[in-house]
Amino acid sequence: MDKPKKLFVKTYGCQMNVYDSERMAEALGASGYVETASPEDADMILLNTCHIREKAAEKVYSELGRFKGLKAARPDLKIGVAGCVAQAEGAEIMRRQPLVDLVVGPQSYHRLPQMEARLRRGEKALDTDFPEEDKFAHLAERPRARRAPAAFLTVQEGCDKFCAFCVVPYTRGAEVSRPAARVLDEARDLVDRGVREITLLGQNVNAYHGEGADGDWSLARLIRELAGIEGLARIRYTTSHPNDMTDDLIAAHGDCDKLMPYLHLPVQAGSDRILKRMNRAHTAESYVRLIERIRAARPDILISGDFIVGFPEETEADFQATLDLIETVNYGSAFSFKYSTRPGTPAAERDQVPEDVKSDRLHRLQALLSRQQHAAQEAMVGRTVGVLFEKPGRLPGQMVGKSDHLHAVHVVDDRAAIGDLVPVRITAASAHSLAGERV
Ligand code: SAH
Ligand code: SF4
Ligand code: F3S
Repeated sequence: MDKPKKLFVKTYGCQMNVYDSERMAEALGASGYVETASPEDADMILLNTCHIREKAAEKVYSELGRFKGLKAARPDLKIGVAGCVAQAEGAEIMRRQPLVDLVVGPQSYHRLPQMEARLRRGEKALDTDFPEEDKFAHLAERPRARRAPAAFLTVQEGCDKFCAFCVVPYTRGAEVSRPAARVLDEARDLVDRGVREITLLGQNVNAYHGEGADGDWSLARLIRELAGIEGLARIRYTTSHPNDMTDDLIAAHGDCDKLMPYLHLPVQAGSDRILKRMNRAHTAESYVRLIERIRAARPDILISGDFIVGFPEETEADFQATLDLIETVNYGSAFSFKYSTRPGTPAAERDQVPEDVKSDRLHRLQALLSRQQHAAQEAMVGRTVGVLFEKPGRLPGQMVGKSDHLHAVHVVDDRAAIGDLVPVRITAASAHSLAGERV
């Protein structure tokens, strides 16, 4: 048998890219590749890219430039670009950076083995189709290796919402849900291999409407079925849109023990004028009411969000409305960004806010959000929460894991093993993590 070839994969962007990178490595496993942690000894380098903001997309070209020396030393080295930049820019990538041999979009990576065969014949390979066939059904038999205790599982992909700033509906395509039976099979397989926590993924995961045993299933129905899997201890899902937070999903937060008390629910802005210009189809008020209903179902739920500052035409008063909304909601964690112009999206054509104004607003917004985040961490001190140990810490006998509320927690515990889910009393909060002791 041929000696295995080595594959180096680097992942940018969202959790779905992390999931996709694993699937691509499995697909290329069928062509004789094993993964390596360093590009220097790889036979193939694959960058799984993100197009969400200009900086994310440009990073790919600077990274590719760095592989010039490697490729010159070893002309047999194959270099591929996958993910959302591949989908958005296609053949342009090979024109701009001729050392690229392969470009594959997020909907065609099940065809990687055939593409790799073309590379071996000395050809280049490009595939950015949105094929009719289901890529998940075509992926290679999974190697039955043991897995880390927390895993991602894609249940829905794509988006029909077309927020005026966003490339995702173009790079990931229309919203598609996987059949419930496929999801349940994959979840059982993960649990058999040591997984105790599953995060269900989708660009609009709460819009899930997969084919079930008795008609289409909602995300809430899917979660309740998953909760029946013995050995699976925790369920999370991300990312959700406010308009798809249905009553049954809110109810699940109240009565499904395995559904963790953490919800990432982006609002983007607090000014109704800007929300309208963003095509978000909700108001600040409707979002705040929604958060109240979710908190009524699960009072200790930690709310997380995404914010964009400096969207075209955003005034100081609009920005102040975002700060007001943040004060009202009180976030436990958040991600915030300066608006980045994305070619081909409606907002790219509008009056832009100057860069220094965006920077100033981002600074003020982040100061408020980090105050709230620290307060949420401090509020955990003295409480006992579940912690799932994921890896050893830096100190002897120390373990690091995630709490029910998705805080990183350090625990010194000689008896602990990776994959243990134990009650921990939180004793201290620091900038980015908590410390605690097993009870
Ligand atoms: N599907 C998810 C995630 C979209 S991308 C959702 O609907 O929330 C993640 C975040 O990136 C978005 O929530 C938004 O806050 C941010 N984002 C998207 N496009 C952006 C742009 N053009 N400029 C700055 N931030 C952007
Ligand atoms: Fe982008 Fe809006 Fe769709 Fe989220 S809901 S992926 S922000 S278009
Ligand atoms: Fe980026 Fe594509 Fe995810 S643009 S955020 S990798 S869906």
